[in-house]
Amino acid sequence: MAPCVEQIHAKSDVITGALMIEKPAGSRFSIIAEVETGETMPKRSILFALGALLLAAVAAMWATRARRNPAACPYGQRLFLDLPRPFMRRQTLRDMLDLAPGERVLEVGPGTGYYSLDVARQIAPGGRLDVLDLQQPMLDELMRRATGRGITNIEPTVGDAQDLPFPDATFNAAFLVATLGEIPDRNQTLRELLRVLKPGGRLVVGEGQPDPHMLTIDDLRSRAEAIGFVFDEQAGTPFGYFARFRLG
Ligand SMILES: C[S@@+](CC[C@H](N)C(=O)[O-])C[C@H]1O[C@@H](n2cnc3c(N)ncnc32)[C@H](O)[C@@H]1O
Repeated sequence: MAPCVEQIHAKSDVITGALMIEKPAGSRFSIIAEVETGETMPKRSILFALGALLLAAVAAMWATRARRNPAACPYGQRLFLDLPRPFMRRQTLRDMLDLAPGERVLEVGPGTGYYSLDVARQIAPGGRLDVLDLQQPMLDELMRRATGRGITNIEPTVGDAQDLPFPDATFNAAFLVATLGEIPDRNQTLRELLRVLKPGGRLVVGEGQPDPHMLTIDDLRSRAEAIGFVFDEQAGTPFGYFARFRLG
Protein backbone atom coordinates (compact mmCIF):
# COMPACT_ATOMS: atom_id res chain seq x y z
CA MET A 1 0.00 0.00 0.00
CA ALA A 2 1.23 3.55 -0.73
CA PRO A 3 2.50 5.57 2.28
CA CYS A 4 0.17 8.00 4.04
CA VAL A 5 0.89 11.71 3.92
CA GLU A 6 2.79 11.95 7.23
CA GLN A 7 5.24 9.37 5.96
CA ILE A 8 5.68 11.34 2.75
CA HIS A 9 6.53 14.51 4.69
CA ALA A 10 9.03 12.68 6.82
CA LYS A 11 10.93 11.43 3.76
CA SER A 12 12.26 14.62 2.15
CA ASP A 13 11.51 18.15 1.01
CA VAL A 14 10.05 17.01 -2.27
CA ILE A 15 7.61 14.35 -3.29
CA THR A 16 8.67 12.24 -6.21
CA GLY A 17 5.27 11.38 -7.53
CA ALA A 18 1.59 12.24 -7.68
CA LEU A 19 -0.82 12.29 -4.74
CA MET A 20 -3.92 10.14 -4.80
CA ILE A 21 -6.78 9.77 -2.36
CA GLU A 22 -7.44 6.11 -1.71
CA LYS A 23 -9.42 4.03 0.77
CA PRO A 24 -7.54 0.98 2.04
CA ALA A 25 -9.61 -2.21 2.12
CA GLY A 26 -11.31 -2.66 5.49
CA SER A 27 -10.71 0.97 6.58
CA ARG A 28 -13.43 3.59 7.20
CA PHE A 29 -11.06 6.40 6.25
CA SER A 30 -9.45 7.51 3.00
CA ILE A 31 -5.76 8.40 2.94
CA ILE A 32 -3.65 10.59 0.70
CA ALA A 33 -1.10 8.37 -0.93
CA GLU A 34 1.91 8.96 -3.11
CA VAL A 35 2.17 7.20 -6.43
CA GLU A 36 5.69 7.01 -7.84
CA THR A 37 5.80 8.75 -11.20
CA GLY A 38 9.30 10.18 -11.19
CA GLU A 39 7.94 13.77 -11.23
CA THR A 40 8.86 16.04 -8.31
CA MET A 41 6.73 18.62 -6.47
CA PRO A 42 7.95 21.15 -3.86
CA LYS A 43 6.68 20.24 -0.40
CA ARG A 44 5.29 23.76 0.17
CA SER A 45 3.01 23.47 -2.91
CA ILE A 46 1.72 20.18 -1.65
CA LEU A 47 0.95 21.58 1.79
CA PHE A 48 -0.80 24.54 0.15
CA ALA A 49 -2.87 22.22 -2.06
CA LEU A 50 -3.79 20.04 0.93
CA GLY A 51 -4.81 23.14 2.92
CA ALA A 52 -7.01 24.33 0.05
CA LEU A 53 -8.56 20.86 -0.25
CA LEU A 54 -9.28 20.81 3.47
CA LEU A 55 -10.89 24.27 3.37
CA ALA A 56 -13.03 23.28 0.38
CA ALA A 57 -14.14 20.12 2.17
CA VAL A 58 -15.07 22.04 5.34
CA ALA A 59 -16.99 24.64 3.27
CA ALA A 60 -18.85 21.89 1.39
CA MET A 61 -19.78 20.13 4.65
CA TRP A 62 -20.98 23.42 6.16
CA ALA A 63 -23.10 24.20 3.08
CA THR A 64 -24.61 20.69 3.03
CA ARG A 65 -25.51 20.91 6.73
CA ALA A 66 -27.02 24.38 6.28
CA ARG A 67 -29.11 23.14 3.33
CA ARG A 68 -30.40 20.18 5.32
CA ASN A 69 -31.24 22.32 8.36
CA PRO A 70 -32.68 25.64 7.19
CA ALA A 71 -32.38 28.33 9.87
CA ALA A 72 -32.77 32.09 10.01
CA CYS A 73 -29.57 34.12 9.66
CA PRO A 74 -28.82 35.19 13.26
CA TYR A 75 -28.95 38.90 14.10
CA GLY A 76 -25.35 38.57 15.33
CA GLN A 77 -24.25 37.99 11.71
CA ARG A 78 -26.04 41.09 10.36
CA LEU A 79 -22.76 42.74 9.29
CA PHE A 80 -22.53 40.24 6.40
CA LEU A 81 -25.83 41.61 5.09
CA ASP A 82 -24.19 44.98 4.39
CA LEU A 83 -21.46 43.59 2.11
CA PRO A 84 -21.59 44.79 -1.52
CA ARG A 85 -23.51 42.48 -3.89
CA PRO A 86 -22.15 42.91 -7.40
CA PHE A 87 -24.30 40.05 -8.73
CA MET A 88 -27.50 41.13 -6.98
CA ARG A 89 -27.69 44.87 -7.30
CA ARG A 90 -30.49 47.05 -5.93
CA GLN A 91 -31.00 48.54 -9.38
CA THR A 92 -31.62 45.07 -10.85
CA LEU A 93 -34.21 44.26 -8.18
CA ARG A 94 -35.88 47.61 -8.80
CA ASP A 95 -36.10 46.88 -12.55
CA MET A 96 -37.48 43.40 -11.92
CA LEU A 97 -40.11 44.65 -9.48
CA ASP A 98 -41.28 47.29 -11.97
CA LEU A 99 -42.60 49.52 -9.19
CA ALA A 100 -44.96 52.48 -9.40
CA PRO A 101 -45.77 55.15 -6.80
CA GLY A 102 -48.78 54.24 -4.66
CA GLU A 103 -48.28 50.45 -4.78
CA ARG A 104 -48.55 48.06 -1.83
CA VAL A 105 -45.45 45.87 -1.65
CA LEU A 106 -44.44 43.06 0.73
CA GLU A 107 -40.87 42.07 1.53
CA VAL A 108 -40.38 38.80 3.38
CA GLY A 109 -37.15 38.43 5.36
CA PRO A 110 -35.81 41.98 4.91
CA GLY A 111 -33.06 41.55 7.51
CA THR A 112 -31.58 44.98 8.19
CA GLY A 113 -33.05 46.42 4.99
CA TYR A 114 -30.36 46.16 2.30
CA TYR A 115 -33.08 46.37 -0.38
CA SER A 116 -36.02 47.72 1.62
CA LEU A 117 -35.13 51.41 1.83
CA ASP A 118 -34.59 51.67 -1.91
CA VAL A 119 -37.90 49.93 -2.67
CA ALA A 120 -39.81 52.11 -0.18
CA ARG A 121 -38.54 55.23 -1.98
CA GLN A 122 -39.72 53.89 -5.35
CA ILE A 123 -43.35 53.52 -4.25
CA ALA A 124 -43.61 56.93 -2.55
CA PRO A 125 -45.72 58.95 -2.51
CA GLY A 126 -48.76 57.00 -1.43
CA GLY A 127 -47.23 53.50 -1.53
CA ARG A 128 -46.44 51.29 1.45
CA LEU A 129 -43.81 48.61 1.96
CA ASP A 130 -44.70 45.94 4.52
CA VAL A 131 -41.63 44.11 5.84
CA LEU A 132 -42.12 40.81 7.63
CA ASP A 133 -39.31 39.08 9.49
CA LEU A 134 -39.02 36.38 12.15
CA GLN A 135 -36.61 38.51 14.16
CA GLN A 136 -37.61 41.71 15.93
CA PRO A 137 -33.99 43.00 16.21
CA MET A 138 -33.62 42.86 12.40
CA LEU A 139 -36.77 44.95 12.01
CA ASP A 140 -35.65 47.40 14.72
CA GLU A 141 -32.37 47.99 12.89
CA LEU A 142 -34.20 48.37 9.55
CA MET A 143 -36.56 50.95 11.04
CA ARG A 144 -33.65 52.86 12.62
CA ARG A 145 -32.06 53.12 9.18
CA ALA A 146 -35.35 54.19 7.58
CA THR A 147 -35.92 56.89 10.18
CA GLY A 148 -32.35 58.12 9.74
CA ARG A 149 -33.02 58.60 6.01
CA GLY A 150 -36.43 60.20 6.47
CA ILE A 151 -38.33 57.21 4.99
CA THR A 152 -41.78 56.91 6.53
CA ASN A 153 -43.70 54.40 4.36
CA ILE A 154 -42.38 51.12 5.83
CA GLU A 155 -44.57 49.00 8.11
CA PRO A 156 -42.73 46.29 10.10
CA THR A 157 -44.37 43.04 11.26
CA VAL A 158 -42.81 40.18 13.19
CA GLY A 159 -44.07 36.92 11.72
CA ASP A 160 -43.42 33.72 9.84
CA ALA A 161 -43.42 33.61 6.06
CA GLN A 162 -45.13 30.20 6.20
CA ASP A 163 -48.24 31.81 7.70
CA LEU A 164 -48.50 35.39 6.47
CA PRO A 165 -50.66 37.65 8.67
CA PHE A 166 -52.22 39.51 5.71
CA PRO A 167 -55.59 39.16 3.96
CA ASP A 168 -55.88 37.59 0.48
CA ALA A 169 -55.07 39.81 -2.53
CA THR A 170 -53.40 42.62 -0.55
CA PHE A 171 -50.20 43.39 -2.49
CA ASN A 172 -49.28 44.52 -5.98
CA ALA A 173 -45.83 42.95 -5.61
CA ALA A 174 -43.81 40.86 -3.18
CA PHE A 175 -40.14 40.00 -2.98
CA LEU A 176 -37.66 38.06 -0.90
CA VAL A 177 -33.89 37.95 -1.23
CA ALA A 178 -31.57 35.34 0.30
CA THR A 179 -34.48 34.22 2.45
CA LEU A 180 -36.48 31.40 0.83
CA GLY A 181 -33.70 28.86 1.46
CA GLU A 182 -33.76 29.67 5.19
CA ILE A 183 -37.42 28.72 5.50
CA PRO A 184 -38.22 25.07 6.32
CA ASP A 185 -41.38 24.85 4.16
CA ARG A 186 -40.56 26.74 0.98
CA ASN A 187 -43.62 25.53 -0.93
CA GLN A 188 -45.95 26.69 1.84
CA THR A 189 -44.23 30.10 1.77
CA LEU A 190 -44.76 30.34 -2.00
CA ARG A 191 -48.43 29.36 -1.52
CA GLU A 192 -48.82 32.12 1.06
CA LEU A 193 -47.21 34.66 -1.28
CA LEU A 194 -49.57 33.59 -4.05
CA ARG A 195 -52.52 34.09 -1.68
CA VAL A 196 -51.60 37.64 -0.61
CA LEU A 197 -50.81 38.93 -4.12
CA LYS A 198 -53.50 40.74 -6.12
CA PRO A 199 -54.46 39.38 -9.56
CA GLY A 200 -51.62 40.28 -11.93
CA GLY A 201 -49.25 40.70 -8.96
CA ARG A 202 -45.48 40.16 -9.29
CA LEU A 203 -43.22 38.02 -7.15
CA VAL A 204 -39.45 38.52 -7.35
CA VAL A 205 -37.12 36.03 -5.68
CA GLY A 206 -33.39 36.75 -5.33
CA GLU A 207 -30.84 34.03 -4.56
CA GLY A 208 -27.05 34.19 -4.64
CA GLN A 209 -23.67 32.89 -3.52
CA PRO A 210 -22.06 32.47 -1.04
CA ASP A 211 -25.35 31.83 0.78
CA PRO A 212 -25.30 28.16 1.88
CA HIS A 213 -29.10 28.11 1.57
CA MET A 214 -29.12 29.35 -2.03
CA LEU A 215 -31.82 27.84 -4.26
CA THR A 216 -30.95 27.21 -7.88
CA ILE A 217 -33.17 28.79 -10.48
CA ASP A 218 -34.35 25.33 -11.59
CA ASP A 219 -35.40 24.38 -8.06
CA LEU A 220 -37.17 27.70 -7.57
CA ARG A 221 -38.97 27.53 -10.91
CA SER A 222 -40.24 24.00 -10.41
CA ARG A 223 -41.62 24.85 -6.95
CA ALA A 224 -43.20 28.17 -7.99
CA GLU A 225 -44.71 26.84 -11.21
CA ALA A 226 -46.17 23.78 -9.46
CA ILE A 227 -47.97 26.15 -7.08
CA GLY A 228 -49.44 28.30 -9.86
CA PHE A 229 -46.95 31.10 -10.51
CA VAL A 230 -45.98 31.82 -14.10
CA PHE A 231 -42.28 32.38 -14.71
CA ASP A 232 -41.74 35.73 -16.39
CA GLU A 233 -38.08 36.81 -16.46
CA GLN A 234 -34.67 36.19 -14.94
CA ALA A 235 -31.75 38.61 -14.48
CA GLY A 236 -28.24 37.87 -13.26
CA THR A 237 -25.79 35.00 -13.31
CA PRO A 238 -25.47 31.56 -11.68
CA PHE A 239 -23.66 33.38 -8.81
CA GLY A 240 -26.67 35.56 -8.10
CA TYR A 241 -30.01 36.06 -9.83
CA PHE A 242 -33.44 37.61 -9.52
CA ALA A 243 -36.40 35.72 -10.97
CA ARG A 244 -39.81 37.28 -11.58
CA PHE A 245 -43.09 35.39 -11.52
CA ARG A 246 -46.65 36.52 -12.07
CA LEU A 247 -49.93 35.16 -10.90
CA GLY A 248 -51.27 32.71 -13.50
C1 LIG B 1 -30.02 36.09 4.98
S1 LIG B 1 -31.16 37.22 5.64
C2 LIG B 1 -31.44 38.21 4.20
C3 LIG B 1 -31.91 39.59 4.56
C4 LIG B 1 -32.19 40.51 3.36
N1 LIG B 1 -33.21 39.98 2.51
C5 LIG B 1 -30.94 40.77 2.59
O1 LIG B 1 -30.82 40.28 1.46
O2 LIG B 1 -30.06 41.45 3.13
C6 LIG B 1 -32.65 36.30 5.79
C7 LIG B 1 -33.72 37.00 6.60
O3 LIG B 1 -34.90 36.20 6.53
C8 LIG B 1 -35.47 36.10 7.81
N2 LIG B 1 -36.25 34.86 7.89
C9 LIG B 1 -35.77 33.58 7.91
N3 LIG B 1 -36.78 32.71 8.01
C10 LIG B 1 -37.94 33.43 8.04
C11 LIG B 1 -39.30 33.10 8.14
N4 LIG B 1 -39.72 31.82 8.24
N5 LIG B 1 -40.22 34.09 8.14
C12 LIG B 1 -39.82 35.39 8.06
N6 LIG B 1 -38.53 35.77 7.96
C13 LIG B 1 -37.58 34.81 7.95
C14 LIG B 1 -34.28 36.13 8.76
O4 LIG B 1 -34.67 36.51 10.06
C15 LIG B 1 -33.36 37.13 8.07
O5 LIG B 1 -33.63 38.44 8.50
